Amino acid sequence: MATNGNQLETEEQFQEIITRYPTEQRYIMPIMHDLRNRYHYLPRKALEMAAAHLQVPLSQVYSMATFYKAFSLIPRGRVRLKTCDGTTCHIKGSQTIIEEVYKNLGIRPGETTPDREFSLETVNCIGACAIAPALIVNDKVYGKVTAASLKTIIREYGGRENE
Ligand code: FES
Repeated sequence: MATNGNQLETEEQFQEIITRYPTEQRYIMPIMHDLRNRYHYLPRKALEMAAAHLQVPLSQVYSMATFYKAFSLIPRGRVRLKTCDGTTCHIKGSQTIIEEVYKNLGIRPGETTPDREFSLETVNCIGACAIAPALIVNDKVYGKVTAASLKTIIREYGGRENE
């Protein structure tokens, strides 16, 4: 049920964002931030258009886009679910969280719902082992997550369960 989604973004929108900036190499970061803020990731086509507009090699744009953790080349949701898959969380049931997210939202780690509302990632230990299994939703940490509490969390962020 994952998507690369292309209906939520158009070349016209990319153009509108990119051409706010003059043709100078130093504007690549502001453009990438604007793209990220709007789409929660950096669409490939937008990076190509930015490279052309700023007259910088596409390889240079990609190397910046992949260097900074704040940027992603794959779509992310408005609500980013990050399950901790460190050793303690793994033992305490992080796999259950992953399965429950799939049951509720139809996405696996690395995927995003078609409406771009939710995405799921796994991360290494976040230092909250005492409350394992842990889940981060955007920047908020939830501990001792169960199937039931996960449903509540998803609802809290506007998610609807799969029928
Ligand atoms: S292993 Fe998950 S918080 Fe440490």
